[in-house]
Amino acid sequence: MIYTVTLNPALDKTVEIPNLTLDTVNRITEMRTDPGGKGINVSKVIAKLGGTSKAFALLGGESGRTIQSELHQMGLSTSFRFLPGQTRTNLKIVDPVRHTNTDLNEPGMEVCEGDLNLLLHDLLSDLHPGDIVVLAGSLPAGAPRDTYKTWVSACRSAGAKVFLDADGDLLSEGLKGVPTLIKPNNDELSRLVGRKLETAAELAEAAKGLLEAGVERVVVSMGGRGALYLRNGSTLYAEGLQVPVGSTVGAGDSVVAALAFAEDTGLSEEEAVVLSTATGAANVMCSGTQAAERAQVEALMPRVVYHPL
Ligand SMILES: Nc1ncnc2c1ncn2[C@@H]1O[C@H](COP(=O)(O)OP(=O)(O)OP(=O)(O)O)[C@@H](O)[C@H]1O
Ligand SMILES: [Mg+2]
Repeated sequence: MIYTVTLNPALDKTVEIPNLTLDTVNRITEMRTDPGGKGINVSKVIAKLGGTSKAFALLGGESGRTIQSELHQMGLSTSFRFLPGQTRTNLKIVDPVRHTNTDLNEPGMEVCEGDLNLLLHDLLSDLHPGDIVVLAGSLPAGAPRDTYKTWVSACRSAGAKVFLDADGDLLSEGLKGVPTLIKPNNDELSRLVGRKLETAAELAEAAKGLLEAGVERVVVSMGGRGALYLRNGSTLYAEGLQVPVGSTVGAGDSVVAALAFAEDTGLSEEEAVVLSTATGAANVMCSGTQAAERAQVEALMPRVVYHPL
């Protein structure tokens, strides 16, 4: 079973405003809301791939209830704890005339350590050895910086495999709990090691250092350049697929989803490389944060090229 955890979810509200202008009244021509936050995005993509997962999150207020009901309409299983306050609404303004994307992100609600511990307890009481836990995204205000270290260690002790997708000190703290897999992009890996890594060879070298520290698998995504898949004794480079770009938002989340799905269904390393590269590219072809259909992913799979580095 796959469990995803979103400690700082958001209701993504996307509006279309042709010729967005400051200091005047703007008219919205189209509007949609989507449940968001990295773990929730991973759960949505897993569902599109034909898998099942259970999404854990801390929610609040009306926007939290909207997220819950939209996910249930999609048939996703969830375990939420509702807290006082409102889950943040992140407004994305798409201007089809000027070709701009403007994000207005709310700060989100504040949590305390006790809230986090209750959700962790819920998760641990569901976990069995061999389960997969995906920890992804930012932390809400009030969460200790070492939250991911605590969660990674607790889930690993319960015998679960932990996939961590985080940035900055959340990633470096999480690494202290020794996750099974991490998926930094090239910028995140550069920040982690404290120097700008440009080439695939430089990125692979830095990722090998993490394997030595005990992480079993490191996947370094490089946007349109594809990704590196490292485990002890093996480095594969999957080239990026040439596809028309709708939106690159959430491409990395799609890769994490495909990797978790591949692990859960017992796919080989090579099959996981092909599936995750195709899933990333298929989601890049979609607009906004909408997840690609399985058929779109399958259509791209024969085009994936990978080789040892
Ligand atoms: N422009 C693109 N064309 C083709 N494939 C892409 C493109 N951008 C991303 N991808 C695919 O998606 C994967 C993940 O992308 P990326 O490295 O941008 O993730 P990310 O920065 O973690 O994204 P996010 O955190 O926003 O989800 C890449 O390894 C690649 O396979
Ligand atoms: Mg990412």
